[in-house]
Amino acid sequence: MKQELVLVLNFGGESSQKIARKIRDLKVYSEILPYNVSIDRIKALKPKGIVLTGIQALKDSNKYKYAKQVNELDIPTKTINNVDEDDIKSFIFNQCGCEGNWNMTSFIESSIENIRKRVGNKKVLCALSGGVDSSVAAVLIHKAIGDQLVCIFVDHGLMRKNEGDEVERVFKEQFHLNLIRVNAQERFLNRLKGVSDPETKRKIIGEEFIRVFEEEAKKIGKVDFLVQGTIYPDVIESGGDEAHLVKSHHNVGGLPEDIEFDEIIEPLRDLFKDEVRKVGEELGIPAYMVWRQPFPGPGLAIRVIGDVTREKLDILREADAIFREEIALAGLDKDIWQYFAVLTDMKSVGVTEGKRTYDYTIALRGVTSVDGMTANWARIPHEVLDKVSRRITAEVPHVNRVVYDITSKPPATIEWE
Ligand code: XMP
Repeated sequence: MKQELVLVLNFGGESSQKIARKIRDLKVYSEILPYNVSIDRIKALKPKGIVLTGIQALKDSNKYKYAKQVNELDIPTKTINNVDEDDIKSFIFNQCGCEGNWNMTSFIESSIENIRKRVGNKKVLCALSGGVDSSVAAVLIHKAIGDQLVCIFVDHGLMRKNEGDEVERVFKEQFHLNLIRVNAQERFLNRLKGVSDPETKRKIIGEEFIRVFEEEAKKIGKVDFLVQGTIYPDVIESGGDEAHLVKSHHNVGGLPEDIEFDEIIEPLRDLFKDEVRKVGEELGIPAYMVWRQPFPGPGLAIRVIGDVTREKLDILREADAIFREEIALAGLDKDIWQYFAVLTDMKSVGVTEGKRTYDYTIALRGVTSVDGMTANWARIPHEVLDKVSRRITAEVPHVNRVVYDITSKPPATIEWE
């Protein structure tokens, strides 16, 4: 089945993503390209229709000339500047004659076929972090080529409560992935000893991650492909061109330099984030993994303010687990973009059973956001906060005070470090 494609040529402005999303919602695959992409390339893609967006006042400009060239192609073309569903529907179905048969099932089927064709009997290596993108990419590729895919999961010990074991259980027991879990907690803790500057922590974790990954990969020997969890917004950001887009595989560092591989494979590069989640659900990945809130690559190391120790990580993990559990119980987990605990580097005086204590302060952070670029502090009901505070001070040793962060971004950032 040949996939129907409607191109969205972006002449500027903000509408292109919304229009492309709308077309995809109507089950027609759509891609955004910048207005200066070559006319030959457009022809080669054989789109069923072309939407021009962001066009105004264009006479005499290069944009105008270009739009004219596009209009002269023998392809239905329409200028759409606002996302009007009826307008879009009428264009793609009546004018372009699309049938609307693109959905996640057909995406999965055609991906599997393409991956099989491309990989043949070669070997693929994937850094699995347990995040949404790498998880979905790994399961999709595994469906296509089985044990020719090897996944390396570097457990840096900076994950949330039970997360490392969950990743291992789901991918080994449920999906039977060829997964190597590297327990590198000690190594990361040693490298982080005495380090309190946030950017230095990030750098150390990124470097150490690559080092551990490379060491493991070397044991496997030569691989042919390395998986990247690139998704469509990354592609658009880079101008939508074919130039090779290299994204860090773990969000913590660059690409490994010492691993031999010939090519990069990016099975999600055509999908928006919510489409990636849909594919994940359809592949049977558990909902709690598919709907995970964003979690920074350096993990809890940047939520322990100041130097990182095992004791501090354990305190934070317990407090964070309580907060997440209560948010989920209150049914707020899908409304809040990120919610987590921070172990401040501050101790203060308290009293427990008549005795003076001098212990840590936990800060709770909850924000609503669309893309993480700006954020509002989440108005979590007082009763929920009250319960969380009571539970943390009662259940987590060495914490005698809990505060809630009521700062938006800007001026604060979402993370504390
Ligand atoms: P900030 O704190 O800058 O965070 O407002 C914006 C978003 O980015 C995430 N974040 C990171 N993600 N590595 C990552 O992979 C990092 O070093 C990092 N720092 C922040 C943060 O959780 C939020 O979603």
